[in-house]
Amino acid sequence: MIPTLAEVHARARARLDPVTCDFIDGGAGDEAAVRENTDAFRRLALLPRVLSGAAVRDSAVTLFGDRLSMPVLVSPTAFHRLAHPEGELATARATAAAGTVLVTGMASTVAVAEVTAAARAVRPDAPVWFQLYPQPDEQVTAALIRRAERAGCTALVVTVDSPLLGLRVRDARNGFHDLPEGLAAENMRGLPGAPDDRPRDIAMWPALSWDDLRRLRERTDLPVVLKGVLHPDDAERAVAEGMDGVLVSNHGGRQLDAAPATIEALPAVAAAVRGRIPVLMDGGIRRGSDAALALALGARAVGVGRPVLWGLAAGGEAGVRHVLELLREEFDHALAMCCCGRAGDLGPGHVVVRGGVPRGGGAGDVGAARVGARGPAPDGHAALYGDAMPYGDAMPYGDAMPYGDATFDGDTTSDGAPAPYGDAASDRDPAPHEATTSVMTGETRNDHDRDT
Ligand code: FNR
Repeated sequence: MIPTLAEVHARARARLDPVTCDFIDGGAGDEAAVRENTDAFRRLALLPRVLSGAAVRDSAVTLFGDRLSMPVLVSPTAFHRLAHPEGELATARATAAAGTVLVTGMASTVAVAEVTAAARAVRPDAPVWFQLYPQPDEQVTAALIRRAERAGCTALVVTVDSPLLGLRVRDARNGFHDLPEGLAAENMRGLPGAPDDRPRDIAMWPALSWDDLRRLRERTDLPVVLKGVLHPDDAERAVAEGMDGVLVSNHGGRQLDAAPATIEALPAVAAAVRGRIPVLMDGGIRRGSDAALALALGARAVGVGRPVLWGLAAGGEAGVRHVLELLREEFDHALAMCCCGRAGDLGPGHVVVRGGVPRGGGAGDVGAARVGARGPAPDGHAALYGDAMPYGDAMPYGDAMPYGDATFDGDTTSDGAPAPYGDAASDRDPAPHEATTSVMTGETRNDHDRDT
């Protein structure tokens, strides 16, 4: 019998130390964001079209010159050797064999050059991207970028949703503050300011700003993808700052428990970006149909985090491969069921909200089927959705646009007060947040939580 993802997860739980299990499955606070990431998909449905399908579907997408055999990539997750002794090497081989991208983490327990070598031993052109937490010491950031470039990574994924580490209740309760003996964040060795060959701590940097990102952008010719964008104004800014992509993510619910589900944040980000750069998303993808929903709502591809770690824990390289092939098969099935020939054929017209009561409509009124579709969308949205918003009144945020008009029209609300999410939020925030929080390496124990 072919194990479902739920069964893979059960096998992983049976094999893993419960503390590691908590580290992987857990999130910030009450874990509402973790739950919402998956639950929000269950509130959506794919609305298939008929009689326009293709005998063979093409799921491939191209991102920054890298060809992915399907629009599902492996999001960066820390410490794979906690899940399996071969760690990131097994993940790299399986991902290369599946023909998709591995975003290897800065907090990898295998150095990036070994990760890319493992992927390329399977497939010479296997794309590996490097995930970076910019460090307050610019020399360290520069050295990490050079290292990723030399290792042959073809894009940088810069995580910007971690000004501080999330409040991880499970890890705190378990006293999980450091990697076990023998494991370390291998990319952090041999960096400026680190004595001997000891790995440096990875710092969370609350004062990281657009200025820093601009300098980082100038340091490399690699495409730069901002990971952890949820607000459409930040997406707009990312385009203006010359970023090559945005990844809508709430870090799998591990950072801000009050953050929205990523599938609910995606449409507004896609609308703000208006196709100028690729929008990716991760968080809660557990089925191929989840990937199809995300593509329909504006993502070019999706990432998976925990499912890959479950596969790795359950069966090493073969386990990861199995998880990726399950998602591929299910995605292709969803495409076929929607009568789409290619991944890019999915659009907002393929999505409805479950439980919505359709309004009556005239013959051919597709809007009626799309649960109360409304009139013209606010600026920027028309390009993506055509005349009507995909969810109409049933949009996850209710009648209003998610963040109110202020975010689309300027910095102030209608009564002149600063917009809650206005530009101020992206400006450099001086003290008291200037201090950096040092986190983990696996070799030095400190009182701060670590990971990522
Ligand atoms: C993560 N994630 C993450 N992200 C990142 O940018 N750097 C990192 O080091 C890590 N580490 C990490 C560890 C573990 C155990 C998990 C589960 C996640 C977040 C990850 O890239 C991705 O955003 C989420 O995992 C996506 O959600 P799902 O697929 O796990 O629901």
